[in-house]
Amino acid sequence: MYNWRSHTWMAIAIALGHIAAGGGDPLPDKLQRCRVDDEACILRQTQTYVRLYKNGIPERNVPSIDPFQLGTLSINSGGDTDSVQFNLIMSNTTLHNFADTVIFKSAKGFTKDLNKPLKLLWSVTLPAVELRADYEVEGKILILPIVSHGKLVIKLNEMQSRSRIRATPEKRADGHTYLKVTEYKSVGKVASGHFNLTNLFNDNAELRDSTLKVLNDEWDALSADIQPKITEASDRFLSVALQKLLDTLPYDEFFKD
Ligand SMILES: *[C@@H]1O[C@H](CO)[C@@H](O)[C@H](O)[C@H]1NC(C)=O
Ligand SMILES: *[C@@H]1O[C@H](CO)[C@@H](O)[C@H](O)[C@H]1NC(C)=O
Repeated sequence: MYNWRSHTWMAIAIALGHIAAGGGDPLPDKLQRCRVDDEACILRQTQTYVRLYKNGIPERNVPSIDPFQLGTLSINSGGDTDSVQFNLIMSNTTLHNFADTVIFKSAKGFTKDLNKPLKLLWSVTLPAVELRADYEVEGKILILPIVSHGKLVIKLNEMQSRSRIRATPEKRADGHTYLKVTEYKSVGKVASGHFNLTNLFNDNAELRDSTLKVLNDEWDALSADIQPKITEASDRFLSVALQKLLDTLPYDEFFKD
């Protein structure tokens, strides 16, 4: 005899099973498969993914990248300048405007060979990203000692970044092969930038403006100390975010035949 009740439960169980596995197709909706050697397609899909899924994919445990959470950055700066020396601690640091503006320029190194580690090289342009943080600073600017805390905003313009990502294929319990990220390392170059800090010298307008002017005039020297720390923190964040996504995408089904 046909038992409608157990039939219904079975249908629900199957539906839930699909949801838990991230849907019938492991690729997020609205993305297409590319051929492994079609770099233009891979770049287009990556760009689409970043724009559409910038708020993360909660059911896959993939975090939002709008903004990125960069945590605490500690910077000792000014070794190369006479006018500025400081220890700066940025906490609650977030990077804004990445997902909406990033341009993926090249992506090399994909292969369908599941037996050897993957070495990917990515390059991107970031026309205008912004870092926001709570800051604490101690140091000197010109001859003025400075001890302060408040809010800090750093704008980074026309940043070029290249990343080397290594990942090892791993066969997992479901019989599929997934990628495990073992290295995520970027180098970046910023064309120009701008600092803004609140609460400098109790917001005495003259002292604040002249301090910010000195900081911004020394952008190149300070950026050499600050920008690598930002890149390092971004790499840590992106490596974790990428791994969470890759944990839901069998690599053996990733590309078109
Ligand atoms: C980070 O931000 C939260 C909320 O704005 C604040 O309560 C906390 O004190 C901040 N943490 C630090 C280390 O400043
Ligand atoms: C710097 O920040 C202050 C306070 O948020 C703001 O009023 C000011 O317009 C900012 N200056 C620049 C050049 O962005």
